[in-house]
Amino acid sequence: MRAVDIIIKKRDRQELTAQEIEWFIRGFTQGDIPDYQVAAWAMAVLLNGMTDEETTALTLAMARSGEMLDLRSVVPIAVDKHSTGGVGDKTTLVVAPLVAACGLPVGKMSGRGLGFSGGTLDKLESIRGFQANLTTEQFLAQLANVGVVVCGQTADLAPADGKLYALRDVTGTVQSIPLIASSIMSKKIAAGAQAIVLDVKVGLGAFMKTLAEAEQLAHLMVAIARKTGRRAVAYLSDMNQPLGVAVGNALELREAIETLQNRGPQDFEAHCLEIASRMLVIGEQSPSMETAYQTVAQVLKSGKAWQKFLDWIEAQGGDLGVVLEPHRLPSSKLRQEILAPESGVIHQVHAEKVGLAAVYLGAGRAKKGDSIDYGVGIEVHRKVGELIQKNEPLFTVHANGEEQLSLARQMLSEAVIIKEEPIDPLPHFYGVVE
Ligand code: URA
Repeated sequence: MRAVDIIIKKRDRQELTAQEIEWFIRGFTQGDIPDYQVAAWAMAVLLNGMTDEETTALTLAMARSGEMLDLRSVVPIAVDKHSTGGVGDKTTLVVAPLVAACGLPVGKMSGRGLGFSGGTLDKLESIRGFQANLTTEQFLAQLANVGVVVCGQTADLAPADGKLYALRDVTGTVQSIPLIASSIMSKKIAAGAQAIVLDVKVGLGAFMKTLAEAEQLAHLMVAIARKTGRRAVAYLSDMNQPLGVAVGNALELREAIETLQNRGPQDFEAHCLEIASRMLVIGEQSPSMETAYQTVAQVLKSGKAWQKFLDWIEAQGGDLGVVLEPHRLPSSKLRQEILAPESGVIHQVHAEKVGLAAVYLGAGRAKKGDSIDYGVGIEVHRKVGELIQKNEPLFTVHANGEEQLSLARQMLSEAVIIKEEPIDPLPHFYGVVE
């Protein structure tokens, strides 16, 4: 086989066989097929698409490119959740300990920020001492002993996805439904998940901008799960405006803590309760969504999820002092409110623009390997459909430099649309694909 023939085949809209895909991914992982050929192939996939069979073969090839965890000796059923990426999405920080406190262990590989979307690991690392790099043995031991563990990908787990993702990021090939589906599902399969709740974000601050695209991605990932002997349920959730109030690492961690202490924003808490309930159902811990919902709501209220969060952070080396006194988390030197220029109804809080403003403040990376500023970010005080009076605060910007502050102010002033006429609030969810 020659890599160029596989590129030409995809360029000419022909279907690749599972053997061709397996060979191509193995060659790429081992360094035998150079980046430029894989980049050309990824662009052909982006432009011409893949059949469901090709996407499943690609998923399995990437999952098998490294170690494949088997969690069955540690947990009765390995349940995972994965968000396709959004702004203010700190769901894992609440849902992982909440589900674990309900008796269903959660072991999860998470990622770092990507473009305008934040990453769970960056948020966790705003806690001094938190250790995201665990060995497989440490991961398994903590899952068994504490019931909750969240860590970064190891070089051994789905390395083909790690390499391909980095290449897609710089070759304009991220926004491909088969490439996104196989990227996400290969990681879940390699990490041993048997039942997966997928949170497919849709809207201005998501990779999928339209409901039709999000539905296609959701159906594809659910089908891949079925074909590979796993179960998956996908939510189509709104990402036109940021989730919750806080955007930025330590700010989001603080909001997650407040939510675990029953003081979080209503939209974010509702989101967490729904995802956690679904994990209990898919993980065979609850017979129905109604029962599951009662359980998770009660466990959240009782403080057991908060206690599980503390056990989890301590197990991964995090300084409990800053978690118990969140004002000691990294914070910014400058704080400034952005006020509404006029009275009216909020029609838009553009999630991608808010996410990018947070990145410019230093909450995300401009390029791979950049360090990030944990203390900066944005608080979003209004949601679509809410009334606002002139000069009431729209945002609070947390910055560490005058230049970043003024750039963020400019970007945020362009993120909001206020009109006179009323508009319905945005839904949390647009549907569920089972
Ligand atoms: N998240 C992933 O893990 N991969 C993608 O391609 C997009 C979002």
